[in-house]
Amino acid sequence: MLSVKLAATRAPMVAASRQQHHHSAILSNHKRRYFSAKSHYDETVVYKYASQQIKPVSIGQLLKYRRMPLSKENILDSISYTQAELPVRLAKRVISFHNLPFIVGTNPHIARVYNQYYEAFDRLHAFASIKDLDAEWEFTRALERQTQILLDVIPTIAQGFLECKQYMQREERTVFINDLIRSRIGLRVIGEQHVALSYQFREEQKTAKQTTQKTEVHGFQASYGGSMDDVWVGAIHTKLLPALMMEQCGRLVQEMCEMHYGTAPEYYIDGDVDETISYIPSHFEYITCELLKNSFRATVDFSNKSNRLSHPPIQITITKGEGYVGVRIRDQGGGISKENMPNVFEYSWSSMQADGVDESSDTSMAGMSLQTNLALQHGIGGPIAGLGFGLPMARLYAGYFGGSLDIVSMEGYGCDVFLKLRSIEGSVEEKQI
Ligand SMILES: Nc1ncnc2c1ncn2[C@@H]1O[C@H](COP(=O)(O)OP(=O)(O)OP(=O)(O)O)[C@@H](O)[C@H]1O
Ligand SMILES: [Mg+2]
Repeated sequence: MLSVKLAATRAPMVAASRQQHHHSAILSNHKRRYFSAKSHYDETVVYKYASQQIKPVSIGQLLKYRRMPLSKENILDSISYTQAELPVRLAKRVISFHNLPFIVGTNPHIARVYNQYYEAFDRLHAFASIKDLDAEWEFTRALERQTQILLDVIPTIAQGFLECKQYMQREERTVFINDLIRSRIGLRVIGEQHVALSYQFREEQKTAKQTTQKTEVHGFQASYGGSMDDVWVGAIHTKLLPALMMEQCGRLVQEMCEMHYGTAPEYYIDGDVDETISYIPSHFEYITCELLKNSFRATVDFSNKSNRLSHPPIQITITKGEGYVGVRIRDQGGGISKENMPNVFEYSWSSMQADGVDESSDTSMAGMSLQTNLALQHGIGGPIAGLGFGLPMARLYAGYFGGSLDIVSMEGYGCDVFLKLRSIEGSVEEKQI
């Protein structure tokens, strides 16, 4: 019953992410360079920016303009912080790539992400100081484009590290990737917040002029922006329905699983299905898709291994807590062995490489492009499995706003995955990003 209700209200989030990935896939085919920072770019400017201190901003500060009429001063105030801050953060990321072992930097996937960061830095730092609304609008559009491009980096960086994990210590790799992902969250939240305010301001101006014509905006803004609907505050959706998110992601992953294995288990959602949370939908979507991909894959694999005639369904239970939402995903996919358990939250560790169980999966570059393209068309940031990024990144995302992700495995039976997400608005406003 729930699925019928939820399917009917399919939100634009997943579609938007498809669009983003499609866009990024086109860009990635268009340009392929190799990591050679020293010859391509003017390093002195990057180092100059990178040497400046980051100025953290709290979620509460970012949300302060929420639902109030915006003035020109508010917008120029917001752009002045955004314009000063983002190039510094981008420059620090660029420099972090310089510190990678040379051989890692020559990997084409890592080089591609490096180039994307450099180009983002290059475009944004080149703007002169913004004094009027025309310049602000131009910067905002550039910002919007950059945010889109940087959305694509995770599957690419995951593939890069998979190919060269032997050249780096585990801890060194973890620190690099965690820093990259955390900083990407900050860049994105700050960037999207300004973009949303800018749209909100223009819409308010339009309404003030009694214009009845509906504003036509970029697809990105229509789905993720703050001004189109009361529930959006920049990148944050204040009334996100976890049950709806699970339902949408469940469908996508089920489809993906069917395409990959020719079969897929059913799933059902129970518990507090009407509960809402204030969260960044793309983060929730990422975590959910990764957890479900793991459960779907494990269920099908275990059915094959144990000659099970039908797949037991995956149970998704939602619970409501004080300022948070809990999700338990329960599968009968055979669980995780004691030996593998310490590895599952490590970047670039996957049982697909460890025991080569899944022969239909090819994680070589050519295979990656086939699988990833398929996955990208479905709005999911990677193949069904094999990159070893799903769990560590999901845990990082969950932990970023004070949540958690834990797995309890019953070897030979299945896993219970416990996800806890704190509602951003209200409960984590003091969080500095
Ligand atoms: N629900 C589960 N049941 C059984 N094994 C699991 C489950 N979830 C995760 N695992 C194990 O943990 C490993 C790591 O999971 P993770 O999602 O990080 O990587 P992956 O699925 O191999 O690759 P990808 O990055 O593409 O998701 C998996 O390879 C799998 O062996
Ligand atoms: Mg996975």
